Amino acid sequence: MRLLLLGPPSAGKGTQASGIVNKYHIPHISTGDMLRSNIKQGTALGNKAKEYMDQGLLVPDELVVAIVEDRLQQDDCQEGFLLDGFPRTVVQAKALDDVLDKMGVTLDKVVSIEVPKGTLVERAVGRRMCKECGATYHILFNPPTKADQCDKCGGQLYQRDDDTEKTVTKRISVYLDETEPLIEYYLKQGQLVTIEGQQEIGKVFIDIVEALGRD
Ligand code: AP5
Ligand code: ZN
Repeated sequence: MRLLLLGPPSAGKGTQASGIVNKYHIPHISTGDMLRSNIKQGTALGNKAKEYMDQGLLVPDELVVAIVEDRLQQDDCQEGFLLDGFPRTVVQAKALDDVLDKMGVTLDKVVSIEVPKGTLVERAVGRRMCKECGATYHILFNPPTKADQCDKCGGQLYQRDDDTEKTVTKRISVYLDETEPLIEYYLKQGQLVTIEGQQEIGKVFIDIVEALGRD
């Protein structure tokens, strides 16, 4: 299955992605995770990306398109994949169309998770992530059993640098300007399904599986 997850910052894309990739046995391709991993390793791409990410801005299209193009050529992506956080601009969406054309495949579904703006800041500032395995928690809505420790691997939890109220507010406005137009783009292509994201995590997942319509 070839899927794309759309939604504003902190809509729950990463949270739902982990359930989707387990169920459908497809690789999870998150541009945000790939960029953070480059920052952690101190690569040239990571150093460049950090300048943008810390301000809540998008990393330039050509850098992000190049890493996704590379990733989609790997063997484990030939039968399917879940793209999370890409594309984020119309330029990226067109570049993805070209890559998929070359691969001779099309997307099965584009899942758009909808959450009202007011909820997004609260979700982002309360988010905690595991340094080791990347698992996501929320101090109120999905708390770990022990404060600051991952339930899955025991790793230490941390708060992302861009999860401050100021940066999240900027990320939301960038989303509205640059990424929200993609809803229309994929609606026209006929693959869009919209999911009510302001429900319990498990219920959002049930709705996604129902919309995907395959076991
Ligand atoms: P990225 O990492 O993609 O961040 P994002 O899109 O802002 O999305 P988030 O990771 O903030 O949120 P999410 O939707 O995954 O929510 P989550 O499941 O964690 O990108 C970061 C930066 O990288 C960008 O700003 C940009 O600079 C750069 N970048 C990345 N891709 C790029 C691209 N293609 N082009 C250019 N630049 C790019 O959930 C959030 C919180 O809510 C968690 O605490 C979770 O536990 C909680 N939660 C989840 N679901 C629920 C629920 N149903 N109810 C209650 N709480 C919930
Ligand atoms: Zn962990």
